Amino acid sequence: MAKLIIEGGRALKGQITVQGAKNAALPILAAAMLIPEPVRIGNCPRLTDVEHMAGLLRALGCRVDWTGDGLVVDAGCARTAALPEDLAGSIRSSVFLLGPLLGRFGAAEAPYPGGCDIGNRPVDLHLKGFRAMGVKVDEASGRIRCLGRPRGTEIALEYPSVGATENLLMAACGAEGDTILVNPAREPEIDDLMAFLNGAGFDLRREGSSRIRVRGGRRGHGTAHAILPDRIEAGTYLTAAAITGGHLVLRGARKEHLSALLTALKEAGCRIRSEGTDLDIEGPERPKELRRLVTLPYPGFPTDMQSQVFALCTVARGTSVLEENVFEDRFRHGAELRRMGADCDLRGRSAVIRGVKSLHGATVTARDLRGGAALALAGLRADGVTVMEQAERIDRGYVDFAATLRQAGAAIRREDD
Ligand code: EPZ
Repeated sequence: MAKLIIEGGRALKGQITVQGAKNAALPILAAAMLIPEPVRIGNCPRLTDVEHMAGLLRALGCRVDWTGDGLVVDAGCARTAALPEDLAGSIRSSVFLLGPLLGRFGAAEAPYPGGCDIGNRPVDLHLKGFRAMGVKVDEASGRIRCLGRPRGTEIALEYPSVGATENLLMAACGAEGDTILVNPAREPEIDDLMAFLNGAGFDLRREGSSRIRVRGGRRGHGTAHAILPDRIEAGTYLTAAAITGGHLVLRGARKEHLSALLTALKEAGCRIRSEGTDLDIEGPERPKELRRLVTLPYPGFPTDMQSQVFALCTVARGTSVLEENVFEDRFRHGAELRRMGADCDLRGRSAVIRGVKSLHGATVTARDLRGGAALALAGLRADGVTVMEQAERIDRGYVDFAATLRQAGAAIRREDD
């Protein structure tokens, strides 16, 4: 168990270098299973979820080694297509392995990925797509068993699910015949996965914003790929500058992946300038309210930034309304923020947040990865000391979170039991 102890009231100042994106690293690591030769995945963040995924690949018979800033994965010696119960259950992203295992072996088996802290997290769209490709999918006794080589076809996704898009693209790489995915997700992490796969000799291309074509019948070869910068990590630290009235330069941030967030932060009164791949932000003394913010699939406002901006709104001048349209249970940080003096009403998918002049330190619990980050941001602003329990949840998505904030002037330290 880990705790963060934060003494609020300091404006952040300085520079932060953005790490590689967790939500690109995970599917790209899974995609390495398609390729029977060594691949190098650079700029890979050393996160607990990434270490878990590496463990799953090793359990499937792959060699996985950290070298420099990334991983070398050799799936040439992979021998089995069944994910072990004890490992696969620990992270939702184990479900990303179904597609590449099907594409490589024509078989895949995994425990049903549990729900998690932000909602039910079904995989029906993934399985429906596999069935459309002629794969036999059995869901008895809490495991998912897939059998049969995928056949290229046209698949229309009812919802632009990120994971389903990634899984189906990876299965399509090993399919006989071409696949067209209609209404795919448009997150930048999808394009990073496609760039990795195209670099390994597969052929995936977007046809406008609502179709992706995958040529079948190709065999992957070794390649090297550098993971794109993590837009959610960058957004989290931008919001840290906003809530503390600080001044930060984010090195390596891609502003074109952050436009919905940057619009919201400017509405809150931040001054933001971009120079090449750097973003320079100055937060206001006290943020303005966000009259209405709605989370949507990309390029809409990202659900993974909702809790951090929720924290910002708790100290705004007026009343903000946030609508969480992507996950059904992603306001659990609200009750924790109330313990710090926030004034907010949670009504299903909407949160009404009446800004208060100041928050006060309290003992709070990180209920999920991004909710934990939000509580830390609130602690940076609050009067007095905030103690956050279950802080290890933050390690899933941020490398050296406390140290990064400390080097930007925050009074924050971590205690591991
Ligand atoms: C990915 O999750 C990300 N995780 C999430 O980031 C992110 O919040 C989410 O995309 C949305 O951007 C990774 O990439 C590892 P979805 P994923 O499939 O793929 C419903 C973080 O904090 N749905 O787009 O699970 C689902 O229940 C994490 O970094 C179905 O109904 O997201 C949800 O309501 C959290 N059936 C909505 O779609 C399905 O088969 C969005 O899910 C699949 C999804």
